[in-house]
Amino acid sequence: MANVLIAGCGYIGTALGSLLAAEGYTVWGLRRHPATLPLDIRPLAADLTSPDTLQTLPPTVDWVFYTAAPDTHDDAAYQAVYVEGVRNLLQALTLQQVRPRRVFLTSSTGVYGESSGAWVDETSPTKPTEFSGIHLLQGERLLLEGPFPATVLRLGGLYGPGRASMIERVRRGEIAWGDESPVYFNRIHRDDAAGALRHLMMLPHPDPLYLGVDHEPTTLAVLLDWLAQALGVPPTRQSESSGPRTPRHPANKRCRNDRLLASGYAFRYPTFREGYTTLLTEQTGAC
Ligand SMILES: NC(=O)c1ccc[n+]([C@@H]2O[C@H](COP(=O)([O-])OP(=O)(O)OC[C@H]3O[C@@H](n4cnc5c(N)ncnc54)[C@H](OP(=O)(O)O)[C@@H]3O)[C@@H](O)[C@H]2O)c1
Repeated sequence: MANVLIAGCGYIGTALGSLLAAEGYTVWGLRRHPATLPLDIRPLAADLTSPDTLQTLPPTVDWVFYTAAPDTHDDAAYQAVYVEGVRNLLQALTLQQVRPRRVFLTSSTGVYGESSGAWVDETSPTKPTEFSGIHLLQGERLLLEGPFPATVLRLGGLYGPGRASMIERVRRGEIAWGDESPVYFNRIHRDDAAGALRHLMMLPHPDPLYLGVDHEPTTLAVLLDWLAQALGVPPTRQSESSGPRTPRHPANKRCRNDRLLASGYAFRYPTFREGYTTLLTEQTGAC
């Protein structure tokens, strides 16, 4: 079986790594603190922002996934992880004559500057206005213009086990929405993010770019109403003066997943309804 290196092996990387390990792949998980990785992923302690620590990569790697994410939401951290980190890993692979068949990068739908709620796809212009989107786009370009075949998967907001705080916030009435014009969010369940990466890895000739979002961009109001109903709590409307606040979010766009679907990927959780239903069921089971 082939060898896989997952650089920045965290929430998605670990889900992907365990999926592939169960199928017989040898999986290395590279991160600064790899002690928490599950036993089916081989730990590789290294810092993507520090080339000296990248000198002992596995000698044979068939696929590389770059799924690192910065610890903090600031310009320097995004530049370090998405630009310097990508450059350092590509250089380390080249210097050590490791020749992967393909390198994948998990980017974000944040590279689109769209804020009017319009639909976007892989052909839409990228005009990021925030430093996060700007550095992600720089990392994408480094990878796509780099020495190895490469594919970028632009993910929507991740949710799944361990990342479902929205449920508790709705249950406690800590989150609300007003009646302002709708702001669309795009999401993907962790297992579909990992599943889509695995699917793309299996394709003989994947495209350079895919959007990784589920079938249904939704407004916060639709999600919160649905969650309130599923939890049996009253929906929370934002009052003029006090009470729970609508989260501020400048982005507003609807992302299409047609290309990923056309490539043959079948979503396990096509919309937030299936995803959150499973999370709610698991929570009930755990009580
Ligand atoms: N979260 C979202 O909603 C979302 C939305 C769109 C796109 N994405 C993209 O999806 C990808 C994965 O997200 P995620 O939530 O799975 O990430 P995550 O779990 O927050 O972080 C991934 C891992 O990166 C490692 N890391 C950070 N800096 C590193 C460094 N300098 N060297 C080596 N490893 C480093 C961290 O481990 P150590 O601390 O042990 O180093 C962490 O476990 C990211 O590329 C992100 O941009 C996420």
